[in-house]
Amino acid sequence: MRFGIIGAGPIGSIISKKLVKNGHDVKVADARGIEHLEGKELAGTVVRVEDVMENIEVLIISLPTKAMQSIRNIIDQVGEEVIIVDTSNYYPFRDDKIEEIENGMVESVWVSKQLGRPVIKAFNNLLAYTLENEGTSEESSGRIAMAVAGNDPSQKQVVMDIVYELGFDAVDSGSLSDSWRQQPGTPAYCTELTKDELTEALKKANKEKAPLLRDKVIERFTEKKEVEFSHKDVVNLNRKIYNS
Ligand SMILES: NC(=O)c1ccc[n+]([C@@H]2O[C@H](COP(=O)([O-])OP(=O)(O)OC[C@H]3O[C@@H](n4cnc5c(N)ncnc54)[C@H](OP(=O)(O)O)[C@@H]3O)[C@@H](O)[C@H]2O)c1
Repeated sequence: MRFGIIGAGPIGSIISKKLVKNGHDVKVADARGIEHLEGKELAGTVVRVEDVMENIEVLIISLPTKAMQSIRNIIDQVGEEVIIVDTSNYYPFRDDKIEEIENGMVESVWVSKQLGRPVIKAFNNLLAYTLENEGTSEESSGRIAMAVAGNDPSQKQVVMDIVYELGFDAVDSGSLSDSWRQQPGTPAYCTELTKDELTEALKKANKEKAPLLRDKVIERFTEKKEVEFSHKDVVNLNRKIYNS
């Protein structure tokens, strides 16, 4: 398939490498200018953001939430048939406070409003390390699953198939309005669950508690700045706090 990616942080870069490895055609752009991509470990063709939408089937946007408005003019030029995927998570300490999200608007619903387009939410509930290193073949037991939410069933299926191909089971987590169940602070968020476990975790999510639990995890990291958390430590902390 033909992909465009905007944003080459860990998630955008890892997705680019995995897609290219699987034989897909990938263009990668940075929202702030092509020079930001210099020296980055990514795969595919580096393009200007103005050119990323040419001849693609799927556009993956992998930016901090606060940067979404800055690409609205680019998204306006993306063909109607192109599937747009949002990988973002809202963190007020990083994204500045976004009032509508603070007041309960589902993060990717907000993103979709900023972009003026429907989006499929995916790649947000696995850590970059998990995405890069923990994918496995279909027949392996204990395969980790990713949540995929969105309103268009056929677009969602395409994204779920891509997730599956990149080494993870995919769980249909409902419409975009349901996607708060996979936001930071929920039991489904970066806890490395199998398909059955993730399906249960999505059901257990608590919308009111999630932002508090999200901030609690961040506090743990900031109060123990001197401690080096391993990937397993992070997953275990998420499991403990997001299930509390
Ligand atoms: N890291 C994870 O484990 C993880 C897991 C799941 C989902 N996510 C979510 O996925 C999204 C991407 O995360 P990430 O960790 O891969 O990378 P990131 O640090 O959020 O950066 C992604 C890209 O956005 C660019 N960027 C940063 N600030 C910007 C701004 N103000 N305007 C325009 N572009 C800006 C970065 O450029 P520079 O590199 O030049 O700064 C980079 O190309 C985020 O919303 C994140 O919450 C992250």
